[in-house]
Amino acid sequence: MTDFEVVILAAGEGKRMRSGLPKVLQPAAGRPLLAWVIAAAREVEPAAIHIVYRGESIRPAIEAALGPDAPALDWVEQPRPLGTGDALARALPAVPDGRAVLVLYGDVPGLEPASLRRLVAEGRPDKLALLTVSVDRPDGYGRVRRDSEGRVVAIVEHRDASPAERAIREINTGIIAAPAASLRRWAAGLSTNNAQGEYYLTDVVAMAVEEGFVVTPVVPSSPGEALGVNDRIELEAVERRLQRRRAEELMRGGVTLRDASRVDIRGEVEAGVDVVLDVGVVLEGRVRIGRGATIGPCTVLRDAEIGEGAEVLSHCVIDGARVAPGARIGPFARLRPGTEVGEDARIGNFVEVKASRIGAGSRASHLSYVGDADVGSGVNIGAGAITCNYDGVEKHRTTIEDGAFIGSGVELVAPVRVGEGATIGAGSTVTRDAPPGQLTLSRSRQTSIARWKRRFGGG
Ligand code: UD1
Ligand code: CA
Repeated sequence: MTDFEVVILAAGEGKRMRSGLPKVLQPAAGRPLLAWVIAAAREVEPAAIHIVYRGESIRPAIEAALGPDAPALDWVEQPRPLGTGDALARALPAVPDGRAVLVLYGDVPGLEPASLRRLVAEGRPDKLALLTVSVDRPDGYGRVRRDSEGRVVAIVEHRDASPAERAIREINTGIIAAPAASLRRWAAGLSTNNAQGEYYLTDVVAMAVEEGFVVTPVVPSSPGEALGVNDRIELEAVERRLQRRRAEELMRGGVTLRDASRVDIRGEVEAGVDVVLDVGVVLEGRVRIGRGATIGPCTVLRDAEIGEGAEVLSHCVIDGARVAPGARIGPFARLRPGTEVGEDARIGNFVEVKASRIGAGSRASHLSYVGDADVGSGVNIGAGAITCNYDGVEKHRTTIEDGAFIGSGVELVAPVRVGEGATIGAGSTVTRDAPPGQLTLSRSRQTSIARWKRRFGGG
């Protein structure tokens, strides 16, 4: 269907958010509200997407959030927030007469393509389609007024409604579809003669009825889809809903979530079958998790790739790193950007790895810092060993070749190379290359003084 275009209204003030950030840029499930709306619009393949916005910050923030594969967007500025009717009118000149228009709100991020498709199908010549839901607490919303035969006749805004109208529980979600030419005509006839002194888009419903249009209420597949965000309480409700949806997508794909309400997905996640995510897992950015991998409690994965069958134990932070199949990380490990952990390698508790490659089967099990290092396979890095990669001015690399054994408490002062199969004695400070196969030690000899007495101070 390419005979319709989408207009997203995103220029409102959002005063009730009490925030320095425009409302449509508030993040929900890891991306701005408006980015969700654009993604939903894109799924129904309109001929064009127009965004009515106000202020400098919105456009660059949305372009950054959508990234390189963003759809083409027509940005239309609404200089002053004169109401939803004025906002739509700003975008209409760009829409050709023969097309229909689907109007979306930048603060309603949860709509699903199926509901939007039904609206578009109903918003044809001589018809206006309107997305409505019935809610227990309709306060604040526009109410859907019907006549004695049940036909929709008008929308009444909460602040303009009589007590009887306020009792109506069917509300206007604000989402409509109608022919562009008709909308253009109606928008030109709107007035600000109402409680808020604004041009109400909702007044077009009564105009359509007057012209003999059929007004079709469309009900979304689930009422929560149409939840809007006006304050931070509603933002949290929308966040939970979007999270639930993403969690269900993962579970349908064969992922076990110990508790779907205690996993947060704030990015793009691809996960193989039989992946297990424990409670408190947070996934951000682009995350790929291979089949059968398990992620322990309270672990953050950001822009990370976890190989098949790998095990990430509790309380790890893996950021910009790749973990090969069969590796085991944590508990309490931190992998920083540029880290690659090889197959079956082990990174244990309180180990930090940065911009380093750890070869297959190598281990750093306790309390180490490995930064800017190339570590071969089968290497053992003892407890408390560290790479001294920074001289206060520059970073230097450390190379540890296959099969080397680094004793506990060793300091490797980079740039330095430890040869294949070399052993570094515990407690050594290594400032020059250590030859392959040999034992290298650099520590003072231990002495004991026989007739020495400890002095006892007073007190
Ligand atoms: C609107 C509807 C109300 C509906 C509710 C559903 C009107 C008059 N009322 O009320 O019937 O129940 O949504 O959530 O339409 N916007 C602009 N420019 C403006 C004003 C608003 O672009 O001048 C945008 C906002 O950014 C927002 C959307 O339009 O995305 C809705 O505006 P908002 O002020 O939140 O309308 P409500 O009072 O919630
Ligand atoms: Ca609103």
